[in-house]
Amino acid sequence: MPANLVVGAQWGDEGKAKVIDYLSKDTDIIVRYQGGANAGHTVVVGGKKYIFHLVPSGIIYDNTTCVIGNGVVLDPEYFLKECADLEKSGFNVKNKVLISDSCHILLPHHRLIDEVRELGSSPEGKIGTTKKGIGMCYADKMLRIGLRAGDLLDKDMLKRKLARILEVKNQELVKYYDLEPVKLDDLFKSLSQFADIMGNNIINTIYFLNDALQQGKRVLLEGAQGTGLDIDHGTYPYVTSSNPTSGGALAGSGVSFRYLKDVIGITKAYTTRVGEGPFPSEILGEAGEVLRKLGGEYGSTTGRPRRCGWFDVQMIKHSIVVNGINNITLTKIDVLSHYDSIPVVVGYELKGKRLTHFPSQGLEDVKPVFAEFKGWKDDISGISSFDKLPPNCRSYINSLQELIGTKIGIVSTGPDREDTIIMN
Ligand code: IMP
Repeated sequence: MPANLVVGAQWGDEGKAKVIDYLSKDTDIIVRYQGGANAGHTVVVGGKKYIFHLVPSGIIYDNTTCVIGNGVVLDPEYFLKECADLEKSGFNVKNKVLISDSCHILLPHHRLIDEVRELGSSPEGKIGTTKKGIGMCYADKMLRIGLRAGDLLDKDMLKRKLARILEVKNQELVKYYDLEPVKLDDLFKSLSQFADIMGNNIINTIYFLNDALQQGKRVLLEGAQGTGLDIDHGTYPYVTSSNPTSGGALAGSGVSFRYLKDVIGITKAYTTRVGEGPFPSEILGEAGEVLRKLGGEYGSTTGRPRRCGWFDVQMIKHSIVVNGINNITLTKIDVLSHYDSIPVVVGYELKGKRLTHFPSQGLEDVKPVFAEFKGWKDDISGISSFDKLPPNCRSYINSLQELIGTKIGIVSTGPDREDTIIMN
């Protein structure tokens, strides 16, 4: 059986979790492959809202096993808190979640340093991170002084590794950041507790996944954040520290590329971004505030107001190329019902010349080229059939499909599972 991939085509928060939840009913295993507690995936079932950060959102289906892949940075404190909350809602996380023995463990000082760096940055240097320590943990992974989940399984080895790590990190904490050193015994104790609770769930998920695929199981790879936040293909340096794109899905899960079939790109019918960085289709001022309110655009992890803008064809085309997207899901189209006329960015100009693609540099200098589409001014929330949409709304969807050159397979008209149009 193939593996399918759900990837964010914008700057995150596209509504991936709703689509993952929708696809979960035909899936055996769901894998998170990058990011960490910076993600906030919201699923609404029967009017009840669930927000996931580290645990794959497929947990709410009985039939699925959830895997935290080797590319994730796992914060044990956040994870246990999320498990406790989910257990209160009746989901047995311990029986359903497997953790890769190669995934990196996010330690308390990663969070501290992230916070200090963000607070201390000049306005020009600020990234606007979630302050969850994500970049610091990935940096240590690359510096080869990270701790991996498999290291928790042998307490003697854990203590030795922690001692080596703290020898380096404590110097950094004290000398560069003027922070308190981390106490080895305290950290060892809390990680030992995590290992006592979750140790049996830590396995080699790379073989688990490839064996499962070979046996015909259906696997869904769940991306966090989005293409615009990809460390290589996004708007560097205003990005996260991992690869949400399809290459990252393979590296971060160990699933062989031979199994990958559909790459489903998720995009809102408009655009949002949290944190700093260029945003060509951004709506500034009061008009931006109107869209923010209409869409309820506040971060599910940090509560920060999201910056809002119009749909950006050039950006989505970039995501299609980089990820190999063959199917698009368009979310939150109901939010646009308010408008008489809907602008869409159809390209960029730089110094009077039309660009042929999304630039790797200088996005802040481009001038967006707009086209206008007629609004429909009818409430379409909850509509689940394309034919029942107002003609102007159908025309908006068809025009976007034509402009991006890729099939729109699903349209979402509201937060609930049922508010979904499957296009034929
Ligand atoms: P970090 O991932 O916390 O290091 O933050 C880096 C950038 O990615 C910041 O602009 C964050 O706002 C953004 N970011 C991280 N996670 C998400 C997400 O789940 N949705 C939207 N933006 C995110």
